[in-house]
Amino acid sequence: MSKLLNGEAITLGTCYYPEHWDESLWREDLERMFSVGIKTVRIAEFAWSKVEEKEGQFNFDFFDKFLDLTDELGMQVIMGTPTATPPAWLTEKYPDVLNAKKDGTLFRHGLRRHYNYNSENYKRLSKIIVEKFAEHYGKRKSVIGWQIDNEINCEIAEFYSESDDKAFNLFLQNKYKTLDALNDAWGAVFWNQTYTEWSEVHIPRTTVHENVNPHQTLDYYRFISDSACNFVKMQADIIRKYKKEDDFITTNGLFGHVDYQRMRDESLDFITYDSYPNFAYTFEGFDPNESSLRDRKWSMNLSETRAISPVFGIMEQQSGANGWNSRMAAPTPRPGQITLWTMQSIAHGADFISYFRWRTATFGTEMYWHGILDYSGRDNRRLKEIGDIDSKVKKLSPVSNGRYVAKVAVLKDYDNIFDSEYDVWHRSVDEESQKAIFAASQKTHTPIDYLYLTDYLDQSDSLLERLSKYDLLIYPHMTIVNESFLPILKKYVENGGKLLFACRSGYKDVTGKCTMEKLPGKLKALTGCDIPEYTYIAPDMTDVHVKWGDDVFTASVFVDQLTLDRDSKETVDSKILATFEDDYYKGYGALTLNKIGKGEVYYYGSAFNEESVKVFFDKLGVSNPFGKYLDLPKELELAVRENNNGKFAFILNYEKEEKIFKVKEKAYNLINEESISGDVIIPGYGVIVLKL
Ligand code: GAL
Repeated sequence: MSKLLNGEAITLGTCYYPEHWDESLWREDLERMFSVGIKTVRIAEFAWSKVEEKEGQFNFDFFDKFLDLTDELGMQVIMGTPTATPPAWLTEKYPDVLNAKKDGTLFRHGLRRHYNYNSENYKRLSKIIVEKFAEHYGKRKSVIGWQIDNEINCEIAEFYSESDDKAFNLFLQNKYKTLDALNDAWGAVFWNQTYTEWSEVHIPRTTVHENVNPHQTLDYYRFISDSACNFVKMQADIIRKYKKEDDFITTNGLFGHVDYQRMRDESLDFITYDSYPNFAYTFEGFDPNESSLRDRKWSMNLSETRAISPVFGIMEQQSGANGWNSRMAAPTPRPGQITLWTMQSIAHGADFISYFRWRTATFGTEMYWHGILDYSGRDNRRLKEIGDIDSKVKKLSPVSNGRYVAKVAVLKDYDNIFDSEYDVWHRSVDEESQKAIFAASQKTHTPIDYLYLTDYLDQSDSLLERLSKYDLLIYPHMTIVNESFLPILKKYVENGGKLLFACRSGYKDVTGKCTMEKLPGKLKALTGCDIPEYTYIAPDMTDVHVKWGDDVFTASVFVDQLTLDRDSKETVDSKILATFEDDYYKGYGALTLNKIGKGEVYYYGSAFNEESVKVFFDKLGVSNPFGKYLDLPKELELAVRENNNGKFAFILNYEKEEKIFKVKEKAYNLINEESISGDVIIPGYGVIVLKL
């Protein structure tokens, strides 16, 4: 059984860089970690040249010595593969391994992640170093798992090297087989892009307005994801040959242009996330608006992580001030905030929390990115707080392996995520709706999950099973319709589920081209609506109102003017539930309902805002499902995890000031070890965990 995420306890770790410190500090550092409850260290993810100082010259002494100590002290080690920063000898000798800007300028040595996944040299040299690491360290007693590379696609998620150009061409030949098929899928007849030889087909390159064929761009993002997945799989396959049976393989973080569902299925036992809620307090990124969720917004990223692995680890949890020497300055976490952010991660499904980093680097780009200890290494407040966290998480072991409880899920798929990145019409509605759904779910205490529709590896049955856990599925803007999802969505509804779409759904096919069918295209049969006209809400039109029974709220960004589809037998019973009240579309439908089997499909003709989401949650009967146990002000977050031991409610206060909430039925406070009921005071940055 894996030594992490094994359902037995919630455990702590830290990131350690033996190569940054004099060897004489190692033992004391490890012993001090142990004394505050840290039992796992992640090492080596940037340390290629410590093992291969020159090409082909391998020397394992450095990490051998370190692992002798961890073996002796009973410390657990997560071994990084060091491919996130190729050594200087490598990039100098093989410049084709470097990533490039769109104009072809190579990214040179000096930072990290300056390589590409498609260079034959980089693949060859990476294979060698990963094999050397895995072969040599795979059976080490203290090694319990492997982290592949570091933060795939962090720093930069686009690749324009010559190796990528060639690989993209092959990817397309493989996908389309003929140039005719490619020309058709890309609408290449537009502005003379018709290709007559494969050698004319490239990755997106510099153009006027930086505006590249949208269908090409969609394929390009799929290609980046494919390259990243293949690179990780290449490493996972090697590690699997050498690792001990129970040792796990993971990678850390969630970044752009990666299909993490595929990466997990092909290569990982689970995903780990790097959580830095203090980004909300960077001087350049701070939102002074009191109603903004600030660090509470990280719960959205944690929910995204949960979509990949329901129980996951945090490989890097913020423990100090932020800052590179050139950007991202932010203050030190206030007393209580490290605990709060740790509990935020646990509340959303983390059973392992590893702090970034043990000691703050005294040199280099990240010398202001503080870890637990400052430069001197003296005991400090943050170290004491970690020790206190350890005693708290010990009391939370009944929660481990618990699944986050949500009855509402927001559906996504990678084609639509990629499309919304470069398509400004899609992006403007999607950003607005995603922000609003998340904020409203937080403020109304209606927990949500994210759920990715995939058409590979997954048997449709298991996808249906996953969907069926939810009372309400919201696919805010399913712009591209992958038709293979439709029968499963229909079955979910027939079985009694509620499915809600919003504007700009159904108008593109999987190449990203607009349909000539009546809108919402392939979603017409499910939704039973027809969209004769649509528009952005004009900038001179501030509030567009929607009336739904007694509720009136404002529309956002866009209007799909809705009528009913009467073309097919399946949709004859659809009806209009709400109407637009303003501008020339006054009187048109704003919301339709189509009943299919025991369930209901809704189509809302605008983007969501917090106000409208709250109305939908209320009217569709999903709001505040734990209201019978707890009465909470909107400033407090509620997250519930459930397992065979029961339901555990995490109540988190992100504000400086204390708050009061009500426990309606007697509940057990796990950390204070007492039963409580009635009015409860939660201090500023406080966390209370109740067994309901
Ligand atoms: C993470 C990364 C770490 C460190 C940290 C602070 O993104 O994985 O290596 O760079 O951020 O910047």
